[in-house]
Amino acid sequence: MHDAIIVTGGAGFIGSNFILEWMKNAGSAVINLDLLTYAGNPANLSALDANARYQLAVGDICDAERVAALLRAHQPKAIVHFAAESHVDRSITSPESFVRTNVLGTQVLLEQARRYWTELDAANKSDFRFLHVSTDEVYGSLGPDDPAFSESTAYAPNSPYAASKAASDHLARAYYHTYGLPVLTTNCSNNYGPFQFPEKLIPLMILNALEGRPLPVYGDGANVRDWLYVGDHCAAIRAVLERGRLGETYNIGGNSERRNIDVVNTICDLMDEMNPSAEIGSRRTLVTYVKDRPGHDRRYAIDASKIERELGWRPDERFESGLRKTVRWYLDHPAWVESVRTGAYLDWIKKNYTERVTS
Ligand code: NAD
Ligand code: TYD
Repeated sequence: MHDAIIVTGGAGFIGSNFILEWMKNAGSAVINLDLLTYAGNPANLSALDANARYQLAVGDICDAERVAALLRAHQPKAIVHFAAESHVDRSITSPESFVRTNVLGTQVLLEQARRYWTELDAANKSDFRFLHVSTDEVYGSLGPDDPAFSESTAYAPNSPYAASKAASDHLARAYYHTYGLPVLTTNCSNNYGPFQFPEKLIPLMILNALEGRPLPVYGDGANVRDWLYVGDHCAAIRAVLERGRLGETYNIGGNSERRNIDVVNTICDLMDEMNPSAEIGSRRTLVTYVKDRPGHDRRYAIDASKIERELGWRPDERFESGLRKTVRWYLDHPAWVESVRTGAYLDWIKKNYTERVTS
């Protein structure tokens, strides 16, 4: 077995941050299996263009033969599985691709990993890991005074996205219990940081604020998310890969619960400070309340005490400093922003927002 790892979905937001940091920290070779959907952007990894230890394999995780061939060719010591359809609003308008990629694709990967792992010699077999990256959304919605989600909270997914991730988590669990495949699962809260596709709350608001466009806040703006800087998530994944107990799940969170309207107002203030515009004036005046998301989960919060206790991981970044760094990154990368604004992206913005009636 070689030292390489296979990362799926590494051209997306978290996967590309993970690969860039992996190359700095661990150094072993990475094969990035990514279909390059609208959310996958090879330019995220252009810093590795001249790096012989990085390779992009454009392909579908649902393609069993392709997955098997990659495993045979590279003999990886781990698979880190990020590839997914990841946007809740898109899962509401078209759930099919979520079931295909998130459920079927995960099953294909697990099955091909199992076949590969079964054939390894004893030492390589015990070293191999399959790390399944999942979300806190599988646990459903919390009331204002409910305790945060722990690893023993019952699954109660409310969106097609969350349901498809929940199904994939169950398959990962079943492959450990039934076949002994060395699976680890992480359930993480909302991430933010560089390279996030601007369909998600934080980059969408930064870019709309930059251009003086309305800032569409769903419902009453009081939904709460627990925000984690993407670099902290990547460090947590590395810790679970190195030291996590097989078959276990680890919740990862930022201890940074914020109401959406407070996040948006903070972005407005940062933009006024870092990119003042006499023409636009105060960005807070751009806030526009729009029709709520159907089935919109009210609150997410993560109890990350297990990963802290067992693996010594805890987030480094505070939300306010992480958000400032993120705004800086988007302001400093206009070419990246332009490159992700494809026709498909513009169609989505039109579909999602012009059909929302302002309330
Ligand atoms: P993303 O949408 O930015 O990237 C997804 C990547 O997967 C893209 O590069 C895309 O091209 C690729 N992909 C999609 N379908 C594929 C297929 N069939 N075969 C191969 N590649 C395919 O997603 P993200 O925000 O980086 O999330 C990565 C993972 O982390 C997902 O599994 C998501 O559920 C999970 N997660 C995300 C967050 C978050 O806040 N973004 C939080 C917790 C967990
Ligand atoms: P999002 O970034 O889509 O992540 P998730 O739904 O996975 O938590 O949304 C984060 C929160 O922001 C969520 O409560 C929905 C809300 N939201 C808006 O208010 N306006 C928007 O335009 C978007 C995209 C999200």
